[in-house]
Amino acid sequence: MKEITITKPDDWHAHFRDHEILAETVSASARQFGRSIAMPNLTPPVVNAELAKAYEKRILEHRPKGSDFTPLVTLYLTNATTPAQIKEARDHGVLAAKLYPAGATTNSSNGVNDISKMESVFTAMDECGMLLLIHGEVTDGDIDIFDREKVFIEKYLQGIIHKHPTLKVVLEHITTKDAADFVIGCSDNVAATLTPQHLMLNRNDLLVGGIKPHYYCLPILKRNTHQEALRKAVASGSSKFFLGTDSAPHMKDQKESACGCAGCYSAPAAIELYTDIFEELGALDKLEGFASHHGADFYGLPRNKEKITLVKESWTMPSEVHVPGNNVIVPFWADQKIGWRLKS
Ligand code: NCD
Ligand code: ZN
Repeated sequence: MKEITITKPDDWHAHFRDHEILAETVSASARQFGRSIAMPNLTPPVVNAELAKAYEKRILEHRPKGSDFTPLVTLYLTNATTPAQIKEARDHGVLAAKLYPAGATTNSSNGVNDISKMESVFTAMDECGMLLLIHGEVTDGDIDIFDREKVFIEKYLQGIIHKHPTLKVVLEHITTKDAADFVIGCSDNVAATLTPQHLMLNRNDLLVGGIKPHYYCLPILKRNTHQEALRKAVASGSSKFFLGTDSAPHMKDQKESACGCAGCYSAPAAIELYTDIFEELGALDKLEGFASHHGADFYGLPRNKEKITLVKESWTMPSEVHVPGNNVIVPFWADQKIGWRLKS
């Protein structure tokens, strides 16, 4: 196959960050996606309707001219979130709220300390039709970093889903066979997003032959048997799995550091990388469902009307992306070959 045309995809998990860097991150996503779920882990976090609408406005101000790219802003759940704030945000068009266990990842210090105290918030979300997006990792110091997703599922996720069977839940950026199997076993109200890095890599890629800070993200890459299970899950064509890049830029000096930040900036080649993956899996016929249909259907939104075309043409991801303030980001897959190119 030399060319593939699919419905314009959406990204159900992206970090645009804020202010001057939006010029870079918003154009990188708008190039390929119709809509992106904009993660709320800013400093300070997006905790109510007013902050969400203001963030949406800042993103839209950086949308390239002529683009109809739509950011879908989300709410950040804290210990102090109230059912009234949920309903107000939903009335203002906010479709989803994100649960970060406190301390689980970048900018999550305002996250939730005690999930059992969130019952009334989850009930409010269920009642007003707001989706619950979950960073599924426990943060207990005695739980090994490679087990944190599995333990979260057993300790918290099962309970949330059991108590709120009609609440729509997305387990974000899944990294384990445990998570894939769990989601498959749940009702149609539970789905998962998958990143390019967790489909392309495993922990050997991160750690063997020298540590690769640009492959470091959370949840951390797992062993190859988990990677294989994730690849199998997307190749199955199941509508429970859809595209969520978790594109999460950090400045080069903060990644290449004695205490490097977690996150891969994959937006500059996201749809191309996913196309490579589906081709490798012999499942190019499943790409459109994963990238352009399943997420919209799960969120209850119309599928995009536009199409995009990818051409089988090899290119190399640049080493660096320059951003305002004399800063540099190393994009995911820097200096490496990509087999497909998005036709503009
Ligand atoms: C994300 C970030 O940098 O905001 N980092 C990451 O490693 N994925 C946060 C997140 O989604 O965990
Ligand atoms: Zn993320």
